[in-house]
Amino acid sequence: MRVMNKPIIHYSLLYCRPGFEQECAQEALRQASVQRPVIAEQPAIVAESGYVVIAHNQQTFTFSRLVFARQLISLHHTLTTLPERDRLSPILAVLAQLLGTFSALWLEVPDTNEGKTLSAFTRRFQPLLEEALGERIDPLQKAPRLHIFFPDKSSVLIGTSDPYNSAAALMGIVRQSMPGDAPSRSTLKLAEAIEVFMDKSEQTRLLRSGMQAVDLGAAPGGWTWQLVRRGLRVAAIDNGPMKGSMAKHPLVQHLKQDGFKFRPKKGVDWLVCDMVEKPARVAALIEEWFAEGLCKHAIFNLKLPMKQRLAALDSALSGLRKRLDMEGINYKMFAKQLYHDREEVTVFLSKTKN
Ligand SMILES: C[S@@+](CC[C@H](N)C(=O)[O-])C[C@H]1O[C@@H](n2cnc3c(N)ncnc32)[C@H](O)[C@@H]1O
Repeated sequence: MRVMNKPIIHYSLLYCRPGFEQECAQEALRQASVQRPVIAEQPAIVAESGYVVIAHNQQTFTFSRLVFARQLISLHHTLTTLPERDRLSPILAVLAQLLGTFSALWLEVPDTNEGKTLSAFTRRFQPLLEEALGERIDPLQKAPRLHIFFPDKSSVLIGTSDPYNSAAALMGIVRQSMPGDAPSRSTLKLAEAIEVFMDKSEQTRLLRSGMQAVDLGAAPGGWTWQLVRRGLRVAAIDNGPMKGSMAKHPLVQHLKQDGFKFRPKKGVDWLVCDMVEKPARVAALIEEWFAEGLCKHAIFNLKLPMKQRLAALDSALSGLRKRLDMEGINYKMFAKQLYHDREEVTVFLSKTKN
């Protein structure tokens, strides 16, 4: 008689922007399905919850290739009925079963209004868990991080993340503080994109004083502000007015032109683009700039207000990839829905040498 081994099901917990749970799950399952068929019966997705749980047969996920996931966690335990009087003991019982040390202990909540109401509770809880775990938390170890995620006060999801394949920020949120003199809150999107897509050495190498940039859809000037702050000269293209310190800055040339028609006389280092347009049209524009050698690096936003958000994004990015390949351009490209992005994602595209 042949004994069939029942496959062990693994679970991953992914955080996302509330409202993007479907896209987050769909995209992760698609990544998994390239390796092995995915498990048909998936945990229910709770709309607007800010997280999803995926069941799989040990497929590996590449976090940097997931657009909608803010964080990637291997889920080990779920407790759904934490007693109000003593939430700590059941959690400690689970932690006793998890072996090894952890490089960090992160108590997290969803990025929702309900989540915000739990923050005070997790702050109180943190020192209790730290004390109980003692030397098992060692920031000097190259060990997984321990995530204790509370979707609500009575349940907890316990998992670990690989520091080399996840976001290095609590709740997967790379927070930025609003610079006092930037003309718009949009400035935070570009600030975050720079942090998320480029490590420190790339930031200093690729964003240097004296470099030239074009900002399409620049007004009132939040993105231009980020570039100017790093010493870049910026051609700011927009029919609307540049405001505050960006209205008359020696490094800024404001041109009231159509961003889809404007082309610089000579190639520039950077193209940034935050125009509100269909993703396919923006991607086609970026294609032209790279194919014509008009820029080396780009950060651009793709707005996704439509129902088929993942399909629209896929089609825009695959068109762009095809064209770059056809032109024989070597490049790296990453897309992410950043914390400061709303119904949109941000893309980093950079020419590489080989
Ligand atoms: C989201 S806002 C940009 C905000 C800007 N990134 C900032 O940080 O302040 C979009 C801008 O794109 C501009 N825009 C839209 N279509 C355009 C076009 N075809 N040419 C130039 N600018 C355009 C709008 O006038 C608007 O100012």
